[in-house]
Amino acid sequence: MDQTCNACGQGFRPAFVFQIAVTPDGQRSHFCSLECRRARLGDEAFRAKRARRIAILNQKGGTGKTTTAVNVAAGVAERGRNVLLIDTDAQGNVGVSLGVSGERSLYHVLVDGVDPTEAAVPVRQSLDVITSDATLAAAEIWLARQAPEQRSRVMTKRLNLMQVSRRYDLVVIDCGPSLNLLNQNALSYVDEVIIPVTCDYLALVGVKQVVRTIKDVERHLHHSVRISAVLPTFYDGRTRLAREVLETLQGHFKQRCLDPIRHNTRLAEAPSHRKTIYEYAPQSHGAADYNRVADWVLATTASAGDAAPHFDSPAPQPSAPAAA
Ligand SMILES: Nc1ncnc2c1ncn2[C@@H]1O[C@H](COP(=O)(O)OP(=O)(O)O)[C@@H](O)[C@H]1O
Ligand SMILES: [Mg+2]
Repeated sequence: MDQTCNACGQGFRPAFVFQIAVTPDGQRSHFCSLECRRARLGDEAFRAKRARRIAILNQKGGTGKTTTAVNVAAGVAERGRNVLLIDTDAQGNVGVSLGVSGERSLYHVLVDGVDPTEAAVPVRQSLDVITSDATLAAAEIWLARQAPEQRSRVMTKRLNLMQVSRRYDLVVIDCGPSLNLLNQNALSYVDEVIIPVTCDYLALVGVKQVVRTIKDVERHLHHSVRISAVLPTFYDGRTRLAREVLETLQGHFKQRCLDPIRHNTRLAEAPSHRKTIYEYAPQSHGAADYNRVADWVLATTASAGDAAPHFDSPAPQPSAPAAA
């Protein structure tokens, strides 16, 4: 159907999404060219809303990925932002931790093409979750059968639906402890990664592997992913080893090394009560530490789309810290 350009008044037939702008109250405007759209809406309005996309990644198991994903997502949601949390681990710990099992899981989104906003289960105010379970193993096999240039981008294709970006301010992906196709899919979707690192010697080796993985993905998928934060976890300041590992991480990642999450039994107990740490033990160290991370996410969200410094310095070499 022919339309009249709201900027220059010329008649034209819309062929591209950018040619139609919809205001929050549902009013439609039409623009024949990008220039006309920019002229009328300005650069700010020209930028389509894009949810911030963060993967919580470390190839090592038990580094606090799921705990971080759940409590950062919940913390940001408690601050009034709309958050989508996606579990990409077949163990399904996100759903278990929050006490939900989705009728439709990430498997259905990836393999059957179910709309992510239909698979998402509302679990708390402003927080939706796409769960995973053992069927995800079949999704991995299905992904492996796709054409080589497609198999790492299926998640991006499915989640790039306008509804996801419109509905959510933040998408958090909890990754599994491996280097599988699902994690490659997660990395090709996100713009940034938070790496939870346990405060022990081998953790430094793990960080090096994550940095290498991210570089490989960037090279192969031509998609830039920034390490926006390294989050020391299970920190016990009484041990010399923990203090030295923290110093090493701070030395390498500078301000991108966040203050540590202390070892806190309440964090380990909360999932069995199907609660976030803020619900289960709001006065605990765990709640205080994850509140700080949620505040950091909010404080850095405004600049998320800006050209942030890209991580390209070498990963920390695990120089043997002295025994505690
Ligand atoms: N800071 C912490 N202090 C104590 N226990 C923790 C802490 N963070 C996580 N845990 C517990 O450690 C285990 C592993 O954490 P999890 O988040 O599942 O790691 P990952 O997802 O990397 O495998 C879980 O039982 C979790 O409840
Ligand atoms: Mg996990």
